[in-house]
Amino acid sequence: TVRPRVLSGIQPTADSFHLGNYLGALREWVTMQQRYECFFSVVDLHAITVEQDPELLRQRTRLSAAQLLALGIDPDRSALFVQSHVPEHAQLSWVLECLTGFGEAGRMTQFKDKSARQEADHVSVGLFTYPVLQAADILLYQADAVPVGEDQRQHLELTRNLAQRFNSRYGNTFTVPDAHIPGDTAKIYDLQDPGSKMSKSVPSGVIELMEEPKRSAKKIRSAVTDTGREIRYDTEGKPGVSNLLAIYSALTDKSIADLESEFDGRGYGDLKKELGEVVVEFVTPFQEQVRGYLDDPAQLDKILHRGAQKAREVSAETLRNVFDRVGF
Ligand code: ADP
Ligand code: NA
Repeated sequence: TVRPRVLSGIQPTADSFHLGNYLGALREWVTMQQRYECFFSVVDLHAITVEQDPELLRQRTRLSAAQLLALGIDPDRSALFVQSHVPEHAQLSWVLECLTGFGEAGRMTQFKDKSARQEADHVSVGLFTYPVLQAADILLYQADAVPVGEDQRQHLELTRNLAQRFNSRYGNTFTVPDAHIPGDTAKIYDLQDPGSKMSKSVPSGVIELMEEPKRSAKKIRSAVTDTGREIRYDTEGKPGVSNLLAIYSALTDKSIADLESEFDGRGYGDLKKELGEVVVEFVTPFQEQVRGYLDDPAQLDKILHRGAQKAREVSAETLRNVFDRVGF
């Protein structure tokens, strides 16, 4: 049976994925493998839209791949590859750039946000065309569905518009992808500032999957809560406690309601201590697996090489078709 196709990517711009990345996106990738033919990419071309140290980028690309494998991406079932290993991404991106209006690209709110506080010459043209490269990533694989968070909706809309524009100008070539509505993702908030999302750019409130597990437990113990005593899920009145409950529930098979009754009459300290243990139990075997992949570079190379081959089987055919239609 033919499974519908999915494409998703993640940037290798940190030494570790964080709990927000996992519970908000990567866990869904793992689940999607059951129903979809998946193409998962470590998007190093996207990473260099802002300056990267070459050696660090190389390391983080491998670290990202090792983490994805340890989280449950199955390289036999899915194509797991590094974007720069598949030259068709940059090639299709150029063709699509020539179909994108300058004003159309300028309306992307993520670019506007990212460039707003910087001098024009400190913002690369690559950052401006980033969503077009993203469109190429998706359209190369004729993806039926793309998992998207709120912040990526506008980029998916651009992708759909570019696919339709190409199809009507040159003949039917691309599948027009739909948004995949994630089954069980959770938005995770900063432990020190539960009003903003957990992000790698704010080190104090983030649980990094690769950090010393004891450090994670300590961060949870000092998470910001509130002056009340009740352990209740109430995102308005108790954002800190609610965030801890959401993380706890996501990492175990306990529902939030189960947790509320389990912790009825107990204190925040208990919740934090137990959640710390849950996190440690999750990351300890994960980190062991990551180290296993990193300790065998030849094996990791082989997996990524095979992933790129799988990806190219599809992307090269799409690009041949595109070039032919464009008149190359
Ligand atoms: P960061 O915000 O730390 O820079 P990215 O922007 O690289 O992380 O996000 C990678 C993926 O992880 C995206 O799919 C994004 O929606 C998801 N993600 C990031 N932070 C969170 C969070 N706090 N809660 C849920 N999902 C998140
Ligand atoms: Na993002």
